Amino acid sequence: MEDSERQHVVLFPFMAQGHITPFVALAELLRRRRPTLIVTLVSTPLNIQKIKSSSSPPSLSSIRLRSIPFSPAAHGLPPEAETAAAIPFHQIVTLLHASRSLQPAFEQLIEDITQEDGRPPLCIIADNFFAWSVHVARRFGAFHCIFFTSGAYGTTVYSSLWTHLPHRKTDSDEFPLPEFPDIIIHRSQLPKHLLMADGTDPWSDFLQGQISLSSETDAVIINTIEEVEKTGLRMLRKVLPCPVWPVGPVLSSPSSASAGNDHIMKWLDSQPPASVLYISFGSQNTIAAPQMKELAMGLEASRTRFLWVIRPPVGFDVKGEFKAEWLPEKFEERMRDEGTGALVHGWAPQLEILSHASTGGFLSHCGWNSVLESLSRGVPIVAWPLSGDQLYNAKIMEEELGVCVEVARGNMESSKADRVVVEKVVKEVMHGGQRGKEIRRRVEEVRVLMKEAWRDGPGSSVKGLSELF
Ligand code: UDX
Repeated sequence: MEDSERQHVVLFPFMAQGHITPFVALAELLRRRRPTLIVTLVSTPLNIQKIKSSSSPPSLSSIRLRSIPFSPAAHGLPPEAETAAAIPFHQIVTLLHASRSLQPAFEQLIEDITQEDGRPPLCIIADNFFAWSVHVARRFGAFHCIFFTSGAYGTTVYSSLWTHLPHRKTDSDEFPLPEFPDIIIHRSQLPKHLLMADGTDPWSDFLQGQISLSSETDAVIINTIEEVEKTGLRMLRKVLPCPVWPVGPVLSSPSSASAGNDHIMKWLDSQPPASVLYISFGSQNTIAAPQMKELAMGLEASRTRFLWVIRPPVGFDVKGEFKAEWLPEKFEERMRDEGTGALVHGWAPQLEILSHASTGGFLSHCGWNSVLESLSRGVPIVAWPLSGDQLYNAKIMEEELGVCVEVARGNMESSKADRVVVEKVVKEVMHGGQRGKEIRRRVEEVRVLMKEAWRDGPGSSVKGLSELF
């Protein structure tokens, strides 16, 4: 896409951490690699405030931040819904539908930018949950691009499941994906809202609409790497009529979130190299209370050092007080006295932790940002996918990439976690068993591929980005 006159690019992420983080990183990347571009990042007021307070000023100084009004209360949602954090799961779908109400304000903002610049933006890069923004781009004659913040395989499988609801057409526990019959999905790999979907429910209504609109976009850029996700990219290119350019890994700068976390880094400094299993279920999720106990007991039995970002279990206020009764008796005290485990209540500086020499593994829910952060630091994954694309991220990483072992799945009442399996898998990955060694070898290969993708000259992500600008 070339236009020497119009150099303004507008980025528009969905209002959730897992989406905003890579969009901010993309904004920084665009400014670094294409200094002639004006980059504006648009979100709702609370998110813009959060971005300003969590990012280091030098990296943001060249990015314009603009907010558009959004009223969660008008949709029966609590104020914190604006960041999609700390709200019960059933409210997420209400938020998705409510986010459609941003269209007039977004349109007005593009109008304002057009007035200020004397010409419309060159390009709108929007979240796939905001595929409706293609209508706005068309009105102003701007190029429209969707930035997929999740991986190619996870995105394609998840979209295909929502489009065809294949599990409704069979009683079998295992079934193939209609467009990709060689991919077999197990019913336990369907999140509850997908399992219950019948095509007329609010989730189907929103997601099917956005999936269908995404085929109208001019191009897709995706936070993945050509050499790492060959299968996923082949699949995504089969279902989308537009060009698909991988530009990953797009990662935030490690320095942006570490203030106030010295105690965590100090604890890590005191641990032996590659000995600590970092545990986190991402920015939104948590596990069920019985699962929490199984995980704790499995960890203790494995005699592995760990750093666990812990939140109240499913069904409790995630921002509420943490109760010791959710863990085995005197668990935290024992771990503290022995110096072998630490719990972090709240937010952890994940990228710094994964970059630390003491971190040797990551027990993760497999949100795509976590996956990229871990693999880019050469840290193998113990997968415990909970929902959405995470289940398929774990599947491809175990079956094809060989960089992880799945330990449990889901956080519903019916989802089981078994302390014996936790102990076995954690030992396998952390204590140098045959499989653990093989996984580390594969992770190192993937780490190098990720690095190469951004090498000047032949790197595939450098090429992907230059296809766009
Ligand atoms: C959501 C979806 O669940 C995920 O599957 C999809 O790919 C993106 O959106 P989320 O739960 O937010 O993701 O997980 P993830 O994609 O891993 O993103 C979480 C981000 O928050 C990461 O960048 C991680 O480093 C950061 N984080 C999370 C912290 O820095 N500290 C924490 O304590 C928790």
